[in-house]
Amino acid sequence: MHVDPPVVSRLLPWAARAWFVAAAAGQWLFAAYIVWVLAWPLLLGDGAAVNRTSLITGHVAGDTLGNASLLGHVAAAAVLNLLGVLQLVPALRRSHPRWHRLAGRVFMTLSLVAVASGLYMTWLRGSRLGDVSAIAISFNGALIGLAVTLAWRRARQRRFAEHRRWAIRAFLLVSGVWTLRLGLMAWVLLNQGPRGNTPRLDGPFDLFWVFGCYLVPLVVAELYFRAERATPVAQRAVALLLGLCAVLTALGTAAAFAFMWLPHF
Ligand code: HEM
Repeated sequence: MHVDPPVVSRLLPWAARAWFVAAAAGQWLFAAYIVWVLAWPLLLGDGAAVNRTSLITGHVAGDTLGNASLLGHVAAAAVLNLLGVLQLVPALRRSHPRWHRLAGRVFMTLSLVAVASGLYMTWLRGSRLGDVSAIAISFNGALIGLAVTLAWRRARQRRFAEHRRWAIRAFLLVSGVWTLRLGLMAWVLLNQGPRGNTPRLDGPFDLFWVFGCYLVPLVVAELYFRAERATPVAQRAVALLLGLCAVLTALGTAAAFAFMWLPHF
């Protein structure tokens, strides 16, 4: 007997859409913060304004290379947070394929700019809170390089199903620093204060989340890819998981906006 899948197959894309709406709001608010609070003052040479935020090193008078790295880093981050989510919209990919290709090239190039400038600041400029978080973000950077390269190559080889999967992985990896903030703030909100957190990011929860902020989304994405071809029951389970991710993303966005970004506008 043929089992009609529409109810279930509708649930999975709807859960993905719910997560997308929360993520787009969160990424664009982060982009607004980066542009207004970091990139614009840095471009105007107003180091004092930037140093009033929670940056580790920030602007240092006379350190031309360091300041340029920071500016390049945050400028790339702003564009990545603006562009990235749009690449995920299937309708936009279909109606504006040339835009998708151009934005994709910009995204992939700027990801590598963010990684290179970030690694320079972490290991050569000394902008790190602790060694474990520095290793975690460096591993994130290495995975970004891998995912971006594979997404690019699969597109050129016209292997679009694989390109889509690698591009989604690249997006989630590039968004690791954003997920880190959302997760930390949601955690603090849910616990009514820090629990397993330290200012050096080496408390038990910090140690889990500095790696989890990009590894957990990769695992969820893998379950989503498998669910697309799985049984209705598995699809429903992954839809529930994605729904939970949507709620947590919305909560994390609200908390990060209220506690981390809004006070600096
Ligand atoms: C994966 C490799 C990366 C490394 C090693 C890295 C490293 C760093 C470091 C060391 C800082 C602090 C600079 C300072 O305090 O002076 C920083 C700040 C920042 N990074 Fe990255 N980064 C990486 C990737 C990214 C990516 C992919 C994005 C965004 C798409 C990003 C967005 C930011 C933003 C917005 C800040 C400013 C922080 C704030 O004010 O909250 N980073 N990064």
